[in-house]
Amino acid sequence: MLLEVRRLSVAYGKAVALENVSLDVAPGEFVAVLGPNGAGKSTLLKAISRAQPSSGTLSFRGESLQALPAHAVVGKGICHCPEGRRLFPELTVLKNLMLGAYLRSDRAQVEADLEQVYRLFPVLEERGAQVVSTLSGGQQQMVAIGRALMGRPALLLLDEPSVGIAHRLKLEIFDAIKRIQAAGTAILMAEQDAQSALRVADRVYVLEHGQVGRCGSSAELGADDYIRQAYLGVN
Ligand SMILES: Nc1ncnc2c1ncn2[C@@H]1O[C@H](COP(=O)(O)OP(=O)(O)OP(=O)(O)O)[C@@H](O)[C@H]1O
Ligand SMILES: [Mg+2]
Repeated sequence: MLLEVRRLSVAYGKAVALENVSLDVAPGEFVAVLGPNGAGKSTLLKAISRAQPSSGTLSFRGESLQALPAHAVVGKGICHCPEGRRLFPELTVLKNLMLGAYLRSDRAQVEADLEQVYRLFPVLEERGAQVVSTLSGGQQQMVAIGRALMGRPALLLLDEPSVGIAHRLKLEIFDAIKRIQAAGTAILMAEQDAQSALRVADRVYVLEHGQVGRCGSSAELGADDYIRQAYLGVN
């Protein structure tokens, strides 16, 4: 298994945000975490990238992550594309992308990966010299995903990549994420849009009130009565 999460719990003061969450991601797999506002999706991704302290066990390629600081987790091959993008708005597209490669010294490979990001999102090459604050929301999301890819992740953590983005761009972004998976990167994606999550992911975990309720393949959950009623609006 690439990532194994066992009995992961997080509390903010007295408020429990995650309780005994267990989850796996296999190499090259695309896993979605589906759940409503406040379910704990972002907390889960932050705990995995060690931006948030947690209890329980987190292991990546059989090695514990719990003792590592966040920057060391990036070095192990886990890149987090956080909620709200967290870009540097006054820097150019190119500078933002290159910041994703700050831990790397393999210059030729970094250049090749930049070309790969441009193939995935051609608009970013056109806009390389533009400051990020003047991009559209969808384009900024492409920069955020591109920046995470510049870290050459084995596992990409994506926090609601399509939130607030118009339908057509949303399709383009999900299509790019599928191509990232096809190139060999495993993906763990938090998402509220059940229809999109079930369409693109191999497996889905449903997180409600900090706990995993259902989990299964996208096909299984897409046929599940509870999921259809609560998340897909089908009676
Ligand atoms: N830094 C924090 N301090 C206190 N409470 C927090 C903090 N971060 C998150 N929480 C709380 O933890 C719970 C889970 O939040 P989280 O951001 O993980 O949810 P989410 O599933 O990502 O929601 P959304 O879909 O709205 O992004 C919420 O009740 C939230 O208010
Ligand atoms: Mg969130």
